Amino acid sequence: MANPSILILAGDGIGPEVMTEVKKIITWFGAKRGLDFDVTEDLVGGAAYDVHGVPLSDATMAKAQEVDAVLLGAVGGPKYDVLDFSVKPERGLLRLRKEMDLYANLRPAQCFDAIADFSSLKRDVVAGLDIMIVRELTSGIYFGEPRGIITEGNERVGINTQRYTESEIARVARSAFELARRRGNKVCSMEKANVMESGILWREVVQKIHDTEYPDVELSHMYADAGGMQLCRWPKQFDVIVTDNLFGDLLSDVAAMLTGSLGMLPSASLGAPMANGRPKAMYEPVHGSAPDIAGQGKANPIACILSFAMALRYSFDQGDEAARLEAAIAKVLADGVRTADLMGPEGGTPVSTSEMGDKIIAALDASL
Ligand code: IPM
Ligand code: MG
Repeated sequence: MANPSILILAGDGIGPEVMTEVKKIITWFGAKRGLDFDVTEDLVGGAAYDVHGVPLSDATMAKAQEVDAVLLGAVGGPKYDVLDFSVKPERGLLRLRKEMDLYANLRPAQCFDAIADFSSLKRDVVAGLDIMIVRELTSGIYFGEPRGIITEGNERVGINTQRYTESEIARVARSAFELARRRGNKVCSMEKANVMESGILWREVVQKIHDTEYPDVELSHMYADAGGMQLCRWPKQFDVIVTDNLFGDLLSDVAAMLTGSLGMLPSASLGAPMANGRPKAMYEPVHGSAPDIAGQGKANPIACILSFAMALRYSFDQGDEAARLEAAIAKVLADGVRTADLMGPEGGTPVSTSEMGDKIIAALDASL
């Protein structure tokens, strides 16, 4: 049987640097664990725009549809701020999400004990935190029509539309309930049913899917603004949170900061199963392209490496190997190894992006 295939789209800013470390990890799993992948690389974001005049070429889009998993670094940078909206780097990312129909975006917020003091919240509020935000990724206000900037009388009007069909809500709700069953068996659904009709429908559909298909899972509902407040007050009350595209964007950034550094958080974006049974999938760190530190070896590669761990778990059915990689990262952090974003008053061993990758590989070697 052919090796499973991975398409790497490193993108812009720190994307290529952190992806270099992921490639080392992929090579390690091939050499030491017999997990061979067919890896190809291509361009996305500003890097693609520079070559093709678009942030994602049709050829790259077609490749992404064929592979077992896409690994994406980050897109965007100040150089591209002046571009027309339709060719901005972010449009490449949004096209991948939409055309691959990656409707379930899994954003875990896990607090590694060794860096619990980096959170702006008190240690006991975040230590041991392990929650999963499931963000709907292919619909809602990000894609709803009508949209645009029009002129009405003597002024312009900016328009975006929040729109959700029942089936779009139902499928992401199912993803959340399935995940919850393998974790703490609790789902909290967040919307604004108090002001938005789409929120009323969201709440109804999530409740119905629960009652008819997942009555064993504990379900609660919360207004998204209160959810943001509760995430900061006592995040450990949550297990799985399911929410729409825009609220999920905001709430996942809030949850990210609970863990101490945005440089630590991975994500998986999953769609429907392909012919081989694997879900359509793209994995990417939650952080952006961080142009201010790009090219200086300062970036933390852990979010991107943890994204590959999610690929091992969700695309390649290698949960044990994913856990091995996560444990290696926890070990390195416990040993005080620190990229710049993790360097606090208590000190530690400062390392560059590539040294962090090497330390993780050494911890992987030690795990054998
Ligand atoms: C994210 C990002 C993206 C989003 C941007 C880069 C388009 O903020 O993945 O959270 O808004 O979805
Ligand atoms: Mg975001």
